[in-house]
Amino acid sequence: MADRDPLVVFTPSGKRGRFPVGTPLLSAARTLGVDVDSVCGGRGICGRCQVLIAEGEFAKHGVRSGAASVSPVSETELRYAKRRGLPSGHRLSCSTQVASDVVVDVPPGSQVHRQVVRKDADARVIKLNPVVRLHYVEVREPDMHDPSGDLRRLYEALEREWSLTGLASDFTILGELQAALRKGEWKVTVAVHDASQVIALWPGFHDKVFGMAVDVGSTTVAAHLCDLETGELVAAAGTMNPQIRFGEDLMSRVSYAMMNPGGAAMMTTAIRGALGSLAAELAREAGIAVTDILEMTLVGNPIMHHLVLGIDPVELGGAPFALAVDSSLTVPASALGIAVHPNARVYVLPCIAGHVGADAAGVILAERPDQRDEVTLLVDVGTNAEIVLGNRERLLACSSPTGPAFEGAQISCGQRAAPGAIERVRIDPATLEPRVKVIGSDLWSDDPGFPAETARTGVTGVCGSGIIEVIAEMYLAGILTPDGVIDGAQAVRSERIVADGRTFSYVLHRGDVPMKITQNDVRAIQLAKAALHAGVALLMDHLGIAKVDRIGLAGAFGSHIDVKHAMVLGMLPDCDLGRVASVGNAAGAGARIALLDATARTAIEDLVRRVEKIETAIEPRFQAHFVEAMAIPHKTAAYTELRKVVTLPAPRESAGPRAARGRRGAAIRGRT
Ligand code: FES
Repeated sequence: MADRDPLVVFTPSGKRGRFPVGTPLLSAARTLGVDVDSVCGGRGICGRCQVLIAEGEFAKHGVRSGAASVSPVSETELRYAKRRGLPSGHRLSCSTQVASDVVVDVPPGSQVHRQVVRKDADARVIKLNPVVRLHYVEVREPDMHDPSGDLRRLYEALEREWSLTGLASDFTILGELQAALRKGEWKVTVAVHDASQVIALWPGFHDKVFGMAVDVGSTTVAAHLCDLETGELVAAAGTMNPQIRFGEDLMSRVSYAMMNPGGAAMMTTAIRGALGSLAAELAREAGIAVTDILEMTLVGNPIMHHLVLGIDPVELGGAPFALAVDSSLTVPASALGIAVHPNARVYVLPCIAGHVGADAAGVILAERPDQRDEVTLLVDVGTNAEIVLGNRERLLACSSPTGPAFEGAQISCGQRAAPGAIERVRIDPATLEPRVKVIGSDLWSDDPGFPAETARTGVTGVCGSGIIEVIAEMYLAGILTPDGVIDGAQAVRSERIVADGRTFSYVLHRGDVPMKITQNDVRAIQLAKAALHAGVALLMDHLGIAKVDRIGLAGAFGSHIDVKHAMVLGMLPDCDLGRVASVGNAAGAGARIALLDATARTAIEDLVRRVEKIETAIEPRFQAHFVEAMAIPHKTAAYTELRKVVTLPAPRESAGPRAARGRRGAAIRGRT
């Protein structure tokens, strides 16, 4: 670079340097370390290196720039534009040479480490930096005077053109290499994993490489297909976890594995088959070959994690809940029998503890509480609640045995969230009459069109969010005492309060399928919410705080529950209600981040090692917290934030059997 050479300024990076006339803009960018993408190595084939030549006087840079500052549009660009289209004003930086001082704008789509905006709840930005990258190369032809192997010459080309050194190849590459080189006339595209391993090969130019992020839940499996070159989310699909036929919840699946020889293997086969079907469905939807899927990431709770990997989860069924492996893993998809590209890799996020899984790691990666000063509480409610609490200084995690009550199990009229299920409830405190909403209709039950609109589905049961609302509303209306007793004295006020043996029930719905909330239903929810609250309180003790700054509710349950009612019930510690929100499927979002950004993998591996794991089963304070949390909303906590938005009933004496009984033994037995 001489002083008289033209000045080339790249925006938005602001990087600048002087280059001789005739220097391709891509080379100038490379020299300056400007982030410009390329798959074809500057051959005018891939179109990834597009830039815009800025027009006008740039006083800041002392440059007058315009179309004449670079070489005229080349034959290569015309050919590319004809083949694949080139937006007006865009130039291929590999085919455009410096003529005089110039300002070159690199649009986001041409940056290697471009940012991808997540489309879900909080639109977090992900940096694109995939583990698998495509490289197009021209390989030297064999020569009688230089008897080197084709693989050696492929490596040479990759080093020469892409500075990749120390490469190795998957075994199957050897079988494909010679045919691909000859078919492509010595031009091939290779997929390199982690800048070290050649895992796929195509004759000529190939620009399709996809990745699949999977969240294996015990009920549903969700998968997202992303273009690894652009970061774009191209398809999404979900399916029921086929292991349900071996057991509804996690504990029953562990029991199935314990009681049936070969049971774990059967569940492994079932889930792997589902993953293969999801891959095929996503590929079909995106119009790609399933073999274009070269990378997968996977999250799941410890039991799902083990079953996908073919590990018997029996050790996770009882203390000390030993994981077979807690670190992250990269395994060949073929070893898991998942039909994507035969050399695709599956990156499995690390588990945190025997009952806090890779799904919790995914939630942490999506939410990054470690990057905030304020203390975040993250809760993923399932059969077990996985709880993470902390900020940039410390992160703690535990799981609490909430049991399946929040999902509608153990509730006399409970059901899964499906059309016809009651999901919203309001009770008039004066008349004690309820109004309900069911899934599938936007009307309340006292709206005139309600019977007609729900005629098809009927009103069939109460789902998790409905149960939380009805019990919270029963408390707000004075039907329930703070100890959780359905107050028989209120029967004089309403016929909906009916004697039911030695206790009372509240008649929620009188249709074809009458629905009562019984004393046992209330107890089941009290036990579940007390377990959740006690787990959180334990972590707060360890962190030495009395109040959390924000709460994120992860998972399907978190998306549907009404925060105010959850607070009235005392499921969560008191918090400014404006700072409590659903964070959507954060575990799945974490899997997608790990798919698109290799550095996120290192980050979560480090973070998981830093997380302080708290074992609720051996903490004496868990029991004390549990007993206090049995009351609604809580025996001792003031809930001042909640009281700013809701008038809670005045304290009164309980009527009936004692509410809080020890749950510790049950808690330990119920743990999965
Ligand atoms: S680098 Fe591929 S077209 Fe320019």
